[in-house]
Amino acid sequence: MRKKVTLITGAAGEVGHALVKRLAAEGQNHLITVDLSPLPADLQGLSTHFQEDILNQPFWDRLVADYEIDKIFHLAALLSTRAEYTPETAHRVNVNGTMRLLKLAAEQSQWRGKPVLFMFPSSIAVYGLPDLETKQRYSRVREWEWNYPSTMYGCNKLYCEMLGRYFTQHYRQLSVEKTVTLDFRCVRYPGLISAFTVPTGGTSDYASEMIHAAAQGKPYACFVREGLTIPFMAMPDAVDAMLQLAAAPRESLNHLVYNIGAFSLSAGQIRDLVCRAFPAAQITFEPDLKRQNIAESWPMDVDDSAARREWGWQPKFDAQRTFTEYLIPNIQKRYAGKAQGTRSR
Ligand code: SER
Repeated sequence: MRKKVTLITGAAGEVGHALVKRLAAEGQNHLITVDLSPLPADLQGLSTHFQEDILNQPFWDRLVADYEIDKIFHLAALLSTRAEYTPETAHRVNVNGTMRLLKLAAEQSQWRGKPVLFMFPSSIAVYGLPDLETKQRYSRVREWEWNYPSTMYGCNKLYCEMLGRYFTQHYRQLSVEKTVTLDFRCVRYPGLISAFTVPTGGTSDYASEMIHAAAQGKPYACFVREGLTIPFMAMPDAVDAMLQLAAAPRESLNHLVYNIGAFSLSAGQIRDLVCRAFPAAQITFEPDLKRQNIAESWPMDVDDSAARREWGWQPKFDAQRTFTEYLIPNIQKRYAGKAQGTRSR
């Protein structure tokens, strides 16, 4: 009999790093992790890891011969800034890669007569507000509003949300056989901030970069203007949201895609919080107008009332707590001995 497993793609990335630890601690299914990179040292031993490209079909064919895939957390993607430099590669990884995983999940669901759970992280990048005035007027966007992404990454995420809906609700709709298909669930993340990893290739990265630079006593030039505001979330909440939605009874869910919010901050407010913790921090603002425009097209905040109502979403970390209880103590530990001018709490 094949072993029942939970599959995590992009496992060595920012969300993957935190999620693999939590899933391993929960100890339900055996974990299979897949990433182009090896797993970082602190994740080793928690899963069976495959250093593979998600576009490699023979790899998936071999994998399903050995394992019964019960749940999928499909995190692998090229983020918004990186995707603008190589849009075709981004499309291949973000869309074709997701399509491949959705197809695999649909086939596995049919084979075992039970839906495979497919968890997908989408993003505020699916939104595209045309100008500042509109951004201020529609400050808390609902899921279906302003779905006009200005980046390849945003387009990819929005389309993959739709593919998830298609595979869950309509795949093989003309088939005469009874079809069991997958159970797709998606959260739209705001900018994520982790104490343990620095993201690569994103546009909301300035928040994390500012904090990690200050903790190491390095100067940082922020690539967006001081007043630019978007929503953010601490990584423990991001992982909680994914696991909470995964555990929600299907009958209680009326949507497939949910906004989730925690707090909104301008780049200047992030600078102030960082400087309070690291008084020696050297933070300046040197906007890169092109990158700034991308972040500027994202909403100031999201309406996450559906998530709150249907599966009890409630962030644990507001801005203050994110800094005082999560970021600062963990970052201080991480860079112990390297940081300069740190104020302890
Ligand atoms: N944090 C992502 C990025 O900046 C958006 O989801 O690309």
